[in-house]
Amino acid sequence: MKKIYMDYAATTPTHPEVLKEMEPYFVEKFGNPSSVHLFGRENRKVVEKARERVAQSISAGPDEIVFTSGGTESDNYAIIGTAFKKRDLGDHIITCAIEHHAVLETCQFLESQGFKVTYLPVDNHGFVYPSDIKKAITGKTILVSIMHANNEIGTIEPIAEIGRVVKAAGVCFHTDAVQTAGILDIHVDELGVDLLAISAHKFYGPKGIGALYVREGTELETLIHGGHQERRRRAGTENVPGIVGFGKAMEIASSERAMYREKLTYLRNKLMSGIFERIDDVYLNGHPKERLPNNVSVSFEFVEGESLLLNLDMNGIACSSGSACTSDTPEPSHVLTAIGTPTVLARGSLRFSIGRWTTEEDIDYVLSVLPETVEKMRAISPLKNKSGISTSSQVPPG
Ligand SMILES: Cc1ncc(COP(=O)(O)O)c(C=O)c1O
Repeated sequence: MKKIYMDYAATTPTHPEVLKEMEPYFVEKFGNPSSVHLFGRENRKVVEKARERVAQSISAGPDEIVFTSGGTESDNYAIIGTAFKKRDLGDHIITCAIEHHAVLETCQFLESQGFKVTYLPVDNHGFVYPSDIKKAITGKTILVSIMHANNEIGTIEPIAEIGRVVKAAGVCFHTDAVQTAGILDIHVDELGVDLLAISAHKFYGPKGIGALYVREGTELETLIHGGHQERRRRAGTENVPGIVGFGKAMEIASSERAMYREKLTYLRNKLMSGIFERIDDVYLNGHPKERLPNNVSVSFEFVEGESLLLNLDMNGIACSSGSACTSDTPEPSHVLTAIGTPTVLARGSLRFSIGRWTTEEDIDYVLSVLPETVEKMRAISPLKNKSGISTSSQVPPG
C-alpha cells in the first residue's frame, strides 16, 4: 500500500543533512558546553554557531535567541515571562480566539493567577483586525500575542500592521511563528515583534528544540531555574545535538524558502482545485489567498471528519482533522468555531498539509482516493438527508 504523508503541519521528518550534522554530537562530541575543558569548549562553539544561524534567518542578533524545548515552551516563556515581569505595570493581555493551545491555555493559566485576558474575535477567514487590537489596548495592557499564521486553517495574520499598532501603544508584542518560520521570510524588525516563537520540528529539524526571539531590552521573568545557561534566561544543560540540528534546519530553510514556497503553492493549488472539481458540497476554511502555501483545510458536508480521516488512513493517506494536538477531542475545533463554521461542517473538516517530499503523484493519488471515499461515506451518512447548510465560505477552484 502507498504511504502518503500530508500532515507536515503536525511535524516533519528530519532532513538527512540535518541528521548528518547532529550525529557526532551524540557520541564523539558529547561535551557539556558549560565545561571548561576541550570537550566543553568545542561544544560551546557549535551552540553559538547554531545560535547565529537561527538569528540570521530571522534578521535578529545572536544574543536575542534563547533556545527552548520547542514552540510550546517558547510561547509559555514569552507570555508568562512577560506577565510576571510586568505585573506591577499592568495585568491585561490581548490575544485572539484562534491561537494554538500553547498560547490559549497559557493565557487561561494567567487568568487563574489574577491577570485579565481579552480573546479577540476573528472574521470568517480567521483575520484579526489591527483596529480591534487598537480598541482593546488599555493603560493596563502589558502584552499582545497574535500568531503569525494559523496551524489549522493556514490564514496569515497581518502581523506587521498589528506590530505598528502595538508599538505605537508602547506594548510588548509576541507572535507564534511556529508554522511560518520554515516557509515565510521573517524579519523581526519588519514584523515589529518583541518576542517570536519558533520550533525546529516544523521545518525538518529535530523534535524537542526551538527558540524564543527576545528583542534586546525586552525583560522577561525566567521560568526555568537551576543554572546560568542561556544567559540565565533558561537553565539546563543545552540539547547540543538538537541545537546543532535546529541551526542546520534553519539555514536550509532560509536559503531555500522562496523556491520551497513556489513548489508548495503549485502542489497546494493542484490539490485544492482537484478537490473542488471532483467533490460537491465542500468548503475551504481560511483565506483563499492569504494562507500558508502548504495548507488545504476543507470541510465536507454530510461527512464525519474523524471517520473520513480513518478511511483515508486505511488507504495510506495521513492527514489531520483539526490540529494534531487536539485531534483526540471530539469537540469541533475552536478555530473553525471562531470563524463561524457551522458545527456540522466543522466536524466534517480535514487538514492536508504538504511539504518538502510531497510529489505530484502523491496529489494525484489523494485526488483518486478522496472523492470515492467521500461518496461512499455520504451514501451511508445519516447527515445526508438533513437540511443543507448555508455558508459563504465555499470558494471556486484555484
Ligand atoms: C501554531 C503552533 N504553536 C505552537 C505549537 C507547539 O509547538 P511544539 O510542538 O514545538 O511544542 C504548534 C504545534 O503544532 C503550533 O502549530
